[in-house]
Amino acid sequence: MSQSKNFLIIFCVLALAPLGLCGKAGSGGYLYPQFYDHSCPKAQEIVKSVVAKAVMKEPRMAASLLRLHFHDCFVKGCDASLLLDSSGTIISEKRSVPNTNSARGFEVLDEIKSALEKACPLTVSCADMLALAARDSTVLTGGPSWVVPLGRRDSTGASLSGSNNNIPAPNNTFQTILTKFKLKGLDIVDLVALSGSHTIGNARCTSFRQRLYNQTGNGQPDFTLDQSYAAQLRTRCPQSGGDQTLFFLDFVSPIKFDNSYFKNLLAYKGLLSSDEILVTQNQVTRQLVKQYAENQELFFEQFAKSMVKMGNITPLTGSRGQIRKRCRQVNKY
Ligand code: HEM
Repeated sequence: MSQSKNFLIIFCVLALAPLGLCGKAGSGGYLYPQFYDHSCPKAQEIVKSVVAKAVMKEPRMAASLLRLHFHDCFVKGCDASLLLDSSGTIISEKRSVPNTNSARGFEVLDEIKSALEKACPLTVSCADMLALAARDSTVLTGGPSWVVPLGRRDSTGASLSGSNNNIPAPNNTFQTILTKFKLKGLDIVDLVALSGSHTIGNARCTSFRQRLYNQTGNGQPDFTLDQSYAAQLRTRCPQSGGDQTLFFLDFVSPIKFDNSYFKNLLAYKGLLSSDEILVTQNQVTRQLVKQYAENQELFFEQFAKSMVKMGNITPLTGSRGQIRKRCRQVNKY
């Protein structure tokens, strides 16, 4: 290992780790913000400019890119397994229930990758691109910024079952969702803060229809949903048909990263069941929702911390994995 890398790792352990700026990877590797400072000094600038262009063209893209990092990290760690297309023995995670007809933004990652390959071939991982794009998307929509620890490498495989089982579903119980977070090393505070991502972006009718018509199987709607809001939602999300029709997750400010998501929850106007249960099922999460609804700064601070924590879920470091040339396929050699 080169001396400068040694130094960075020691610096990381002694100085940055206590600040949450370096993550200890599961198997001993470290992520640190300066990882590309010498090998690809323009890396962060390149990611930011492609993301900015994409979000300018379509504001929702910020939400879609933020979500991709989450769906990547919850499956085999933050290793860009999500970005692989099916081929050979690989069955793409894009085919899983949470991702089909839903996860989007892959073309933006292709564009970032091709710009990075031109500037510094085989240097910047697709997994780091996802982490940076998530941060840039948050900032571009008005949310907090944070320093992104880097040095993740890309997987050589995908896990369809991991994608189906580890990513929480909108109709999961509170306990199931919390358990899925805990299995990834995230706690109840991370759950509430990260759910705040639903301050931007859209959901399809199929993701919350059950709440409008038959929440518990007795033909009754979810009474924890404001009934006039529910009536409004029913007009565009009928009992059958219209599965893919889109709705704002935060109807107050759908493309602005702010704390109105939490205010909506307190008014029983959270779109997904998984959103509303944060105020109806648990006192700890209810208190956190109240605090974030009252204090946007507090939400922003915690969101940034929780994003760094999520970004540290078992990355591949050192010589594990590879730097893919194209995010959609593993290198052939
Ligand atoms: C707590 C458990 C969570 C559940 C059950 C959940 C579920 C969902 C569902 C069902 C959708 C709509 C998908 C569709 O209908 O196509 C969605 C969208 C979204 N989710 Fe989550 N999510 C959770 C946590 C998170 C986290 C931790 C993040 C990011 C850190 C996140 C970011 C987003 C974003 C930004 C969107 C909008 C995407 C777009 O417009 O393309 N979610 N989520």
